[in-house]
Amino acid sequence: MFKTRGLLITLEGIDGCGKSTQATILARRLADSGIDFLPLREPGGTAVGENIRQVLLDNCYSPSLQAELFLYMAARSELAEQVILPALRDGRIIVCDRFTDSTLAYQGYGGGVDLDFIRLLNHRATGGIVPQLTILLDLPVEAAAERRGASADRMESKDIRFHQRVRNGYLEIARFEPHRVVVIDASGTVEEQGELIWQLILELVAAKRTTGF
Ligand code: TMP
Repeated sequence: MFKTRGLLITLEGIDGCGKSTQATILARRLADSGIDFLPLREPGGTAVGENIRQVLLDNCYSPSLQAELFLYMAARSELAEQVILPALRDGRIIVCDRFTDSTLAYQGYGGGVDLDFIRLLNHRATGGIVPQLTILLDLPVEAAAERRGASADRMESKDIRFHQRVRNGYLEIARFEPHRVVVIDASGTVEEQGELIWQLILELVAAKRTTGF
């Protein structure tokens, strides 16, 4: 595994789980507490990545599953090499909205791509970075669809069975890696979830300061 001085924290969940709201709340609390951090999102976070994001989410394209997989990986590779690895080497705290688990959940469990193949590509694309903490916001697919409302990008427009497989996949990832992935019930209030997330972050930052891992 890649050795780092920094911290990589990732947020995951199905579309409509409230992840972006929690990312915003967390960013505000970190900033208010004077904790330096770098907010990132996937796909995105670099010029190349943001352009790939547009292609991936635009309803006017319909790439094959394999093309879609490689586009997510290309964006990840660029972000890891250009931004994440240097920031971790500098000892920074990164909060990334989606990362490697999204590909396992969406293209793997959701789309049916071989999970070991995705793990291999993830490893290549990231240089072996594994988040120290992943917060999984879990919500039933029906509730998430309601929260998303009418306007939907290409990924959000996939049918409910796809989103159910993605949710089940996320929960399986959390069962396999309970030391890394913490599941938060996203049907709680925004404030309750924000507080749970904040406590997790504070514990991790304190542990990092005391032990340096
Ligand atoms: P979001 O920024 O609103 O979460 O949108 C990103 C979309 O891309 C979301 O539907 C999840 C999807 N996605 C994948 O399918 N695979 C991936 O590897 C990543 C990072 C995102």
